[in-house]
Amino acid sequence: MLLEIQNIHKTYPRGRPVLNDVSLSLERGQTLAITGESGSGKSTLLNLAGALDSFDSGEIVLDGTALSRLDDRGRALLRREDVSLVFQQFNLIPSLTVAQNLSFHARLANRVDPEWLAHLTATLGLADLTQRYPEHLSGGQQQRVAIGRALAVRPKLLLADEPTGNLDETASAAVLDLMLSLVADTGAALLLVTHSPVIAARLDRTAHLANGRIA
Ligand SMILES: Nc1ncnc2c1ncn2[C@@H]1O[C@H](COP(=O)(O)OP(=O)(O)OP(=O)(O)O)[C@@H](O)[C@H]1O
Ligand SMILES: [Mg+2]
Repeated sequence: MLLEIQNIHKTYPRGRPVLNDVSLSLERGQTLAITGESGSGKSTLLNLAGALDSFDSGEIVLDGTALSRLDDRGRALLRREDVSLVFQQFNLIPSLTVAQNLSFHARLANRVDPEWLAHLTATLGLADLTQRYPEHLSGGQQQRVAIGRALAVRPKLLLADEPTGNLDETASAAVLDLMLSLVADTGAALLLVTHSPVIAARLDRTAHLANGRIA
């Protein structure tokens, strides 16, 4: 198993429980869609799987490593090398161009592959925008840069939070094709939050979050 989420409980300070005994697992080469209403905890779950936040109880095991046992340095290393997150809010670096944003994480991980970057840039329709800064991009263009940046690392685990939320049907299909080809080529696993039944139907499985639990 590449990712095992075991009986996770998570409550934010002063909040109600968001995740209440959530378990799921993902093998290499598998894809899973997470659905659920706004506020049901989808982004929270992705952040936990990506070692960005801590949980109250339970365990998350990523490629044999128990996340609760990692210190800050261990978490940072994992985020740099093994997991890529496409954030719902993109989180591009404003002072870097599209090209620099695209290669940023790959550089940190020492995994720059110019051919792969060129392929991502072309497939995501960003070839004419490489020298622009994020503030001069549309929402959908920013989203495509965020996706390219995550894929550039060729992570073991790709976590994508509504990655097609700002894209039209054609761009959505292209983005999903790209993610699925990464999975097929490298054996990565994909956990993808979506509200689209069309997207969910193209993944291996769907898990629905409601009332803090997987239904
Ligand atoms: N940092 C935080 N501090 C306190 N509460 C938070 C924090 N982040 C999220 N929450 C709360 O936790 C719950 C789950 O939020 P989360 O962002 O995981 O939902 P979501 O399913 O991703 O929603 P959406 O579809 O709108 O993106 C919400 O009630 C939210 O208000
Ligand atoms: Mg969310």
